[in-house]
Amino acid sequence: MAKLAIALDFTELEDAERFLYSLEDKDVIVKVGYSLFVKYGTDITDFVKNRGFELFLDLKLHDIPNTVYNGVKGAVYNGADYLTLHTLGGKQMLERAVEAKKDSNLKLLGVTVLTSHSEEFLKTLGINSSIEDLALKLAEIGVEAGLDGIVASAKEVPKLKSSIKKPFLAVSPGIRPFKVENDDQERVVSPEEAVKLGADIIVVGRPIIKAENPNEVIKQIKKQITK
Ligand code: C5P
Repeated sequence: MAKLAIALDFTELEDAERFLYSLEDKDVIVKVGYSLFVKYGTDITDFVKNRGFELFLDLKLHDIPNTVYNGVKGAVYNGADYLTLHTLGGKQMLERAVEAKKDSNLKLLGVTVLTSHSEEFLKTLGINSSIEDLALKLAEIGVEAGLDGIVASAKEVPKLKSSIKKPFLAVSPGIRPFKVENDDQERVVSPEEAVKLGADIIVVGRPIIKAENPNEVIKQIKKQITK
């Protein structure tokens, strides 16, 4: 059954804590990214774990293999259940990351091409493949290296799942349970569609954390993804 990850994109610890206190459903993953982790470190990760949520550290690690190895060990130590890293870091880096999480519950999720990158930018680097082809190649390398999942738009999931033979978790942001004004997510799909397309974890931020009644939105999303 697909899971819901809530992007805890607050900048103040108090706001994040107040929000988590108010959640009625503990069966959700809580995604902590730069905005809280760089500032508050284990104050926020311990809070998430102590409240009984699964912890998703979205730190997109990308460095030399040994440094990433130590970073992954740190995430295991902090009780993270999910951690992101850049597949662009290369096969060796990914393999060292997989080695570091051995015997733990941590699931490593690979990021491919950032949505902020364009084909023009790739060309300036001398890369002539399309973003889609590059993302598929990077996802293949990641899964081959032993990653547990890949972060990808739900619209890309069918292609990834049919091309990559080894099973992996497809983790999809860009989900909108309803229309949001002035939205910066361009390629959005509903929770129900995302799951139909093969997403295993959907990542939803603002439609929940900025809602008047987050618990109600969570209920609606859960209904859609458990149909
Ligand atoms: O608020 P919203 O639902 O757009 O939040 C989506 C979350 O997923 C954010 O935390 C964002 O950083 C993350 N994300 C994304 N697009 C990607 C990768 C990650 O929106 N390609």
